[in-house]
Amino acid sequence: MDQHNLALLLSSHFPIVIIETQEERRAMQLLRRIAGETRIGLWQWTAAQGLQHLLHAVDRPLELAGADDEGPTTDRDSLNPEVMLERIGRDIRDSVVVLSDFHPYLEQPRILRLLKEFALASSQNNSSLVLISHALKPPAEIARLCAHFELSLPDADAIRRLLREEARLWKLRNGNQSVKADGKAVELLVRNLVGLTHSDARRFIRNAIYDDGAITHSDIGAVQAAKYKLIDPEGILSFEYDTVGLDQVGGFAALKRWLELRKLPFLQAGSDPDTPKGILLLGVQGGGKSLAARGVAGAWGVPLLRMDFGALYNKYIGETEKNIREALKAAEVLAPCVLWIDEIEKAIADNGSDSGTARRVLGTLLTWMAENKAPVFLVATANDISSLPPELMRKGRLDEIFFVDLPDTATRQEILAIHLARRDHDIDDFDLQQLARASDGFSGAELEQAVVSARYAAIAEGQAPGTGHLLAELKRTHPLSVVMAEPMAELRAWAAGRTVAAH
Ligand SMILES: Nc1ncnc2c1ncn2[C@@H]1O[C@H](COP(=O)(O)OP(=O)(O)OP(=O)(O)O)[C@@H](O)[C@H]1O
Ligand SMILES: [Mg+2]
Repeated sequence: MDQHNLALLLSSHFPIVIIETQEERRAMQLLRRIAGETRIGLWQWTAAQGLQHLLHAVDRPLELAGADDEGPTTDRDSLNPEVMLERIGRDIRDSVVVLSDFHPYLEQPRILRLLKEFALASSQNNSSLVLISHALKPPAEIARLCAHFELSLPDADAIRRLLREEARLWKLRNGNQSVKADGKAVELLVRNLVGLTHSDARRFIRNAIYDDGAITHSDIGAVQAAKYKLIDPEGILSFEYDTVGLDQVGGFAALKRWLELRKLPFLQAGSDPDTPKGILLLGVQGGGKSLAARGVAGAWGVPLLRMDFGALYNKYIGETEKNIREALKAAEVLAPCVLWIDEIEKAIADNGSDSGTARRVLGTLLTWMAENKAPVFLVATANDISSLPPELMRKGRLDEIFFVDLPDTATRQEILAIHLARRDHDIDDFDLQQLARASDGFSGAELEQAVVSARYAAIAEGQAPGTGHLLAELKRTHPLSVVMAEPMAELRAWAAGRTVAAH
C-alpha cells in the first residue's frame, strides 16, 4: 500500500517529496522497488558518501557505493551539497534523487535557491527529489513545491509477517530448532506491537524470542513495559504492573457483567463508534473502587496506565495542556489499554493555583474522549460528588456511572473469603455467614483490616486465627458508615436515579 501511494505521488510530478521517518532503510526499499518497476533511475545523496547512483533508468541495478571501482557512480566533489545540487540539476533526467538527512542545509539561501531551480525544472527533466529525515519542515520558499508522504505503521498482518520472518531467522541460527509459540501469547504480542514502527516491532519480537526461543505470556509484560518506556519518557503516565484479576474483587457483580459483555467489542475495536469509552466508579471510601479499576485491566488482559495529574501540574508549569495531550497520545499508542485516573475530582480541582488550568485540562480530556478512535478505556474513580465537574457527568461522555455502595451480606462474605484465602487460610475453617452478618456497614477495606488485625491478635495468643478472633475485631471497629452516616446518606440519595449499582 505504501509503495502504491508513494509511486502515485512520484508519478504525479510533485517536484519534492518529503518523508519524515526514523526508518530510512524501509523508505529506501520502497523507492528501490518503485524505481525498478517504473524503470526510472534512483540516486541517493548522503553527507558521508556524496551522490551515488543506485539504479539506472532502465532497471539495471548497480553495485552499491563504497566499492573502490565504482567509477562514475560516486564522486567526491558531490560531498558538497551545492556542487551536488548543481550537478543533478544539469545532468540528471528520468530519475528520483534521494537526499538523506538534508534538513540542516535547508537554512542556506544558495541551497534553497538551487532546490527551487531543480523543482521548477523537474517536469522537463522528469525527475523528482525525495527528502528523507527524521524531522523536516520545508522553509516557506519551497513549501508549495513539496508533498509529504508518511510511511504507514505496520498493521497486525504486517506484524505477523515480521514475526514469522524473525522466527525463521532464529531457526536458521539455532540448529533448525523451531521457536516455541503459544497461539494466544502470539496474538497478544501482535496486538501489543500494533502502533509501533517496523524497526521497533522487530526489535521487540527479537527480544521476546531470543531469551528462551519461545513466545510466551511472560514476554507480553516485558514488551508492554518496554513499549511504554519508548512512549512516555516524561512520566505523567505510569505503567502499573499490578493489575488484578476480577476474582480478587468481591461483589461488583453488575460491573463484572458489564465488562464481560464488552470485552470482545473493546479488544476488536475497529472504527465502531460504539466502542466502550469509559466509566466512572463513584462511591464510598474503601469500597474497592481503586481495586476494581485495576481489575478492569486484569479482566480484559490489557495494560493499565495510570495518569497522574499531580505530576502534570507540578512538573511542567505552563505546559500542562501540551503534556496532557502528549500523554493521551501515548495512551493511544499503547491501545488497547485502560487509562486510570484515580480520584478524578481531586485531580481536577487540585492544581494548586489557578482553576483555569484545571478546566482546560478537563476540556482537553473530554475532547479527546469524544474524538479518540483507539481502544483506550478510561476508568475514573471519585468519592465526592460535590467537586465533580458537571462536564464530565454529562450524558454520552462516559458509558456508565457506577455507584459503589457498601457491600451487602453476600458480598461481605465474598470479600472476607478473598482476604482470608489470600493469606493462605482455609476458608472452611471460618463461619463466613456469621461473620458476614456481624459486619453490617463495613466497607471492603474495613473487612480486610479486620482480617489483618484478627491475625495479629491470634498470633499474639499463639493460636491460629478463627471466627472468634474476627468477631472480636468486628465488634471493636466503628465502621465509617456509622461515623459518616450523614454524608453517606447524601451520596446515596444523589446516586439514586443518576447511577447504576456496581454490586
Ligand atoms: N470489593 C472488594 N473486594 C476485595 N477487596 C476489597 C474490596 N473493597 C475493598 N477491598 C480491599 O480494600 C482495599 C482498599 O480498597 P480501595 O482502595 O480499592 O477502595 P477505594 O474505594 O478506592 O477507597 P478510597 O475511596 O479511599 O480511594 C483494597 O486494596 C482491597 O484490599
Ligand atoms: Mg481509591
